[in-house]
This record gives sequence, structure tokens and C-alpha cells, in this order.
Amino acid sequence: MVQISLPKNSKVVKGKLYKDKTGSKQLKKVNVYRWDPSVGGNPRIDTYEVDMKNCQSKVLDVLNKIKNEIDPSLAYRRSCAHGVCGSCAMNMNGKNGLACTKPHEEIKGDLNIYPLPHLKVVKDLIGDLTTLYKQYESVEPWLKTSKKDDDRENLQSKKEREKLDGLYECIMCACCSTSCPSYWWNGDKYLGPAVLLQAYRWIEDSRDEDKKERLKKVADELKLYRCHTIMNCTNSCPKGLNPAKAIASIKKMLATT
Ligand code: SF4
Ligand code: SF4
Ligand code: FES
Repeated sequence: MVQISLPKNSKVVKGKLYKDKTGSKQLKKVNVYRWDPSVGGNPRIDTYEVDMKNCQSKVLDVLNKIKNEIDPSLAYRRSCAHGVCGSCAMNMNGKNGLACTKPHEEIKGDLNIYPLPHLKVVKDLIGDLTTLYKQYESVEPWLKTSKKDDDRENLQSKKEREKLDGLYECIMCACCSTSCPSYWWNGDKYLGPAVLLQAYRWIEDSRDEDKKERLKKVADELKLYRCHTIMNCTNSCPKGLNPAKAIASIKKMLATT
């Protein structure tokens, strides 16, 4: 059997316990992944006892409470707090999702919070999305048209517009790509579900004149065909989208054109 040994400093160790100071009878233990590049060493799990009686309903509210009232050094991304910007994507009790839309009441027992899986960690809950954004840029996610009439609307029929439903809603949160085993192992070559769904969004846009080129660009053993239809992506999308279906549609288009 193959023996794999991980570097010593990759082991996640037990961190600090921040005991409740409020005397609340309604406490929840929140275990949070911590790693600070300026300190180095092993990542650790810090545990915070949080007074849930005075906490709003979402996991992001719990993190904000920790940061504001217990430990200001905790780092995580957030912006809109309404499931629109995608920046608060993280792993909560084993499932990727948006901290600002996930009710903490749905998680019974301890709350365990980690960064999105298989990304390099920038700090604490912040994953490094540089590769994903470069891949996003590579599919040229903008309208390509020879129409020069800048002051006129570029029309499409109702039917053509409907084809973009289930695609345009994507907020590029990366929950899908970071839950995809193929992306874990080949993330530098395989484009992954988030970027492929975006590629398909432009392939399907009736106003775009670059469909053939776009298809050609993704028709690659590594960029596209590393998808083995495992469906983790679709199960983890907090917007209820279906990136696996978008990928299958690209494959079908390539097979029939
Ligand atoms: S398809 Fe869903 S999970 Fe993937 S990036 Fe878009 S919104 Fe996030
Ligand atoms: S269906 Fe494809 S993209 Fe989605 S998780 Fe599976 S391998 Fe990844
Ligand atoms: S903070 Fe914008 S999606 Fe959560």
C-alpha cells in the first residue's frame, strides 16, 4: 500500500479556548480554523463559547460576534451579507456554503468552520482564489459582438433570454469548484464547475458572436473532460444552480457540432 506522509506543519492542532464571559445560559461552541502566515507554524482550531441569546440568525452573524466581541484577530471575507457577492463562502460542518445565508440553527451541536477545501490559505478562513480568477479570465466572460451601435440595446427574444436562467445567477463564490474532487487534484489544469458554468453562460448567449471559438477553447482533455459527473458541485451550490448540467451541455454541444 502506498504510504503518504504529510509535512509536519500541515497537521491541524488544538488551539485556544475562549471561555464565555457573559454568563449566558445559551452557549454554542464554535470551532474555527486559524492560520496566520506572519506567525507560521501549524494551523489550529480555536474554540469560542458564544452567547447565542444575543446573536442574529446566520453563521456570518456568529463570526461577526466573535470578531467584534471576543477576538478581533479572526480573518474572513464578507461584504454584502445578502448572498449576492459570494465573498463569505466557507465550509460549515463539512458543507460548503455562504455564511451570510446559512442559519446557524440548522447546525446542531458545535459549529465547525473551515476555509473552502483544497485552496491555499491566505489567512484563517480566507482561501486563495488567484488560480480560479485567472481561469475565469481565460474564458473571457464578456459579450463579444461586432455591433458598433453603442447607444442601441442589443436585443434578444424572450426564449433566448430564458436560456440564461440558471446561469446568470452565479455569483462566483467557488463553493462548487472547491467541492469537486477533480478540481482538488487538477485545479491548475481543469477549469472546474464555476468557470465552466460561466463559459457556458456566454456560449448560450444569443447576442454573442464567438460561440465557436468559445467552444474550441474549452474542448480540452484537461480543461473540460476532467469532469466525471460526480455531482458534488451541484449539491453544494448555495444558489441552487446546476454546474454539472452546464458542463454536460458543453460536452453535448461539442459532440454534436
Ligand atoms: S455555480 Fe453556484 S456554487 Fe458555483 S460559483 Fe456559481 S453560485 Fe457559486
Ligand atoms: S460533476 Fe464534474 S464538476 Fe461537478 S463535482 Fe463532479 S467532476 Fe466536479
Ligand atoms: S457576504 Fe456576500 S454572499 Fe455572503
